[in-house]
Amino acid sequence: ELSDLRVENTKLKYRISTGMTSILHSVKQLFGTAIREAYPMLTNAPLLVTKSDHADYQCNSALPLSKYLSAEKRLPPRDVANTLIAHLPPNPLIGDVVVAPQGFINITLNKEFVSNSILNVVTTGVHVKPLSDKQANNRVVIDYSAPNIAKEMHVGHLRSTIIGDAIARLMEFVGMDVLRVNHVGDWGTQFGMLLAHLIEKYPDYKTNTPPIADLQAFYKESKKRFDDEPDFKARAYNTTVRLQAKEAEMITAWKQICEISRKEFREVYNLLGVSQHLIERGESFYHELMVEVVKDLEQKKLLIEDEGRKVMFSTDPSAPPLTIVKSDGGYTYDTSDMATLRQRIHDEKAGRIIYVVDGGQSQHFQLIFNCGTLAGYYDPNTVRVEHLGFGVVLGEDKKKFKTRSGDTIRLRELIREGFERSLAKLIEKGRDKELTPEELKAAQEAVAIGCIKYADLSHDRNHEYVFSFDRMLDDRGNTAVYLLYALTRIRSIIRNANLSQDITEMAKKESKLDLSHAREYKLAKQILRFAEVILQIADDLYLHTLCSYLFELSVVFSEFYDQCYCIEKVMEKGVQKVKVNINRIILCEATARVIETGLSLLGIKSVNKM
Ligand code: ARG
Repeated sequence: ELSDLRVENTKLKYRISTGMTSILHSVKQLFGTAIREAYPMLTNAPLLVTKSDHADYQCNSALPLSKYLSAEKRLPPRDVANTLIAHLPPNPLIGDVVVAPQGFINITLNKEFVSNSILNVVTTGVHVKPLSDKQANNRVVIDYSAPNIAKEMHVGHLRSTIIGDAIARLMEFVGMDVLRVNHVGDWGTQFGMLLAHLIEKYPDYKTNTPPIADLQAFYKESKKRFDDEPDFKARAYNTTVRLQAKEAEMITAWKQICEISRKEFREVYNLLGVSQHLIERGESFYHELMVEVVKDLEQKKLLIEDEGRKVMFSTDPSAPPLTIVKSDGGYTYDTSDMATLRQRIHDEKAGRIIYVVDGGQSQHFQLIFNCGTLAGYYDPNTVRVEHLGFGVVLGEDKKKFKTRSGDTIRLRELIREGFERSLAKLIEKGRDKELTPEELKAAQEAVAIGCIKYADLSHDRNHEYVFSFDRMLDDRGNTAVYLLYALTRIRSIIRNANLSQDITEMAKKESKLDLSHAREYKLAKQILRFAEVILQIADDLYLHTLCSYLFELSVVFSEFYDQCYCIEKVMEKGVQKVKVNINRIILCEATARVIETGLSLLGIKSVNKM
């Protein structure tokens, strides 16, 4: 990658061809090279480069380096810093370096690099060049949404769906080969009860689709019978056995039930605009593989008999074991996740697996991962397996989000309320008078879905968050509404410039973008931080940092717009003329594109007018 940054001639005619790079990462690489060349004997030299308030970036390696050097070679940090600078490879990125007395190196970017990079954003679009080399296995399996058949899809599943969808988009954006898996809970003992009840209540289920409108109520009915009628309970157990043996009749009935739930899930996904690539591969998919896993673990002598159960201990002595086979011979959630893990490594050839599941299941996943390595299903040094956990959703009363009567919130109704509230907000702002009915409808949808997703994604996912439409729809804070307005404002500035030509073509002709006003330059640098933020998230999966970045970008844009006229009225020989500052319109365009790209990665549709 470094070779890309090197320039043959000193005259900088530098254009990035493959997209935006993380400037922080590139600066780090440059200093890494400098350290290696200046001090080849120090193999573990600390490479400390951060963003800086004093300059653009800062390298803090000189102080620790001076301590590492052997006594006879020891130099004060200041001199070490100067040595590093002398070994920096030629590059188009760094403009100026200044050593502070304590040895910190303050790094400012080369303005020409910034200007060229902005032109690139407009001429070639917003692309981020991945950090990983092409050799690395870039297949990522993302397990998200995962509601349970015959049960209500709840706000926990909503969070998983929103976060998982965004992570999948972002991974794809940085060039990963993404497999989206919906690990639906469609197998297990509760199905015996459901099917037994179905067969008894609708004996003609094979020819007529059972008219079950409310599967939750149906679930409750069968649960009641299961608890109250010992005969029914016995039949339910028997039905489970027949289902797990995959008896044709049972499978037919099971499919009927799954289809009813599936329709509901699909409705939610359509409303949310979840990627069509999310494939349903529920627990039932792994049935045969569970048999194999049990055999395999048995062979590896990893299963221990415990009161009729077969359990597997991890390396953590304080943790409970996994239950692999129950005393009645049945399998559990643990068994299915062991089989799932193995399948994703062996068959899917995953280089990374991400489970987007609420934080409450953290212990379960730690055990699965631990036992998975024990069983030799993967090597944590080559495959990255992680649980992307998240906190619970609270109501405005700061208690677990429930309806007034204490029931689980129905997602379809929640989203529908979002649509109503969003329209009310737009009407309150008089937008219905400005927009065509189609534009109003597009804005309503963008705001409704955008506000729900953004509220979720803009909080540190480890924390709980309060679901409040009032807060989500506020257009003053770090909200989707604010960003969507900011974006439409920028789009309208560009429209008002009435350019005679396509902006991309205009940018192609610019040889150098003028960034002489301090606020132009600040905005340009903020735009270019995009790649850094995206690549960091591809690593740590903290999407709220993208939200903060976009919010900051729109704030920096406002500061720029306050002082830098894009379109000016000027007097020329006594005649008033309109002057369009093309460099500023190009900055507007680059800002708009980055915001649009950022929002689309979050799964949020943007609109041109709102
Ligand atoms: N269906 C589960 C639930 O609702 C989530 C499944 C998550 N994925 C997994 N591989 N365990 O809690």
